[in-house]
Amino acid sequence: MDTADDAGVYQLTEDIALIQTVDFFTPIVDDPYTFGQIAAANALSDIYAMGGKPLTVMNIVGFPPDKLSLSVLGDILRGGADKVREAGAVVVGGHSVQDPEPKYGLSVTGIIHPKKVRANSTAKDGDRLVLTKPLGIGIITTAIKAGVASQEAIDQAVLAMTTLNKDAAEVMQEIGVNACTDITGFGLLGHALEMAKGSGVGLRLFADCIPVIEEAWEYADLGAIPAGTRANLEHVSGQVVFHPKITTGQRLMFADAITSGGLLISVPAEKTEVLVEALNKRKVLAAAVIGEVLEKPAGKIFVV
Ligand code: CO
Ligand code: CO
Repeated sequence: MDTADDAGVYQLTEDIALIQTVDFFTPIVDDPYTFGQIAAANALSDIYAMGGKPLTVMNIVGFPPDKLSLSVLGDILRGGADKVREAGAVVVGGHSVQDPEPKYGLSVTGIIHPKKVRANSTAKDGDRLVLTKPLGIGIITTAIKAGVASQEAIDQAVLAMTTLNKDAAEVMQEIGVNACTDITGFGLLGHALEMAKGSGVGLRLFADCIPVIEEAWEYADLGAIPAGTRANLEHVSGQVVFHPKITTGQRLMFADAITSGGLLISVPAEKTEVLVEALNKRKVLAAAVIGEVLEKPAGKIFVV
């Protein structure tokens, strides 16, 4: 917890450690089945960010049966169950409460070899940073709520949010990397900053190399900025140094509060090419080298 890592790890034996995490939220898309898929992919992601394998999950549900048909709840749970199955895990139970606003998520238990835990606090000087999904998801979901998002943009955001980080995690474990976290509510800059602070290193991010869903730029210009994104940017401002050429739109995009984002992997420089190649072979949504790790200043990020 000291370095805001993605999940809790508890060593059981010399070979096995438990990984535990929980995540739930209110709907971010209208379609209940898709919402279920997104919530599950998002909750499972913290296990993948540690390099682990999810085993069992419990559903967490808030639902207003007096306001919504139970078939809606059925669709949410079916979306979640399908993602859990794709992850190779099983639903073993859950708990529901009556709630005026629907909520759904999972508590997830996974396993990992204790020596193979990929913390967010072990990035090393000279590493390269690789990101496995495009940014822009939070801005697009805000554009959806404002009714200005195109179908193409919605499809790309939904694809990004429903894609499991399973392939990316398996590849990174095959190759061996120094550190990993997943990009969610605090945005790329917030999660990268946790990595920098926890690891006692600085980071340099290459703005032009950071993958973004194209339409998100347009919606950012239209002002479709989630409140959390503005708060994120404000929150990191003391520790992030932007090159003057970096526009306000880019700053907001890199701080965008997202759901079910990709993995941010810190890989030794000499393994970067083989990691990117292996990620591409598994058709991971992005395999972009977006930056590098600096010896110092600790806990600072330069965006150039
Ligand atoms: Co996380
Ligand atoms: Co989480």
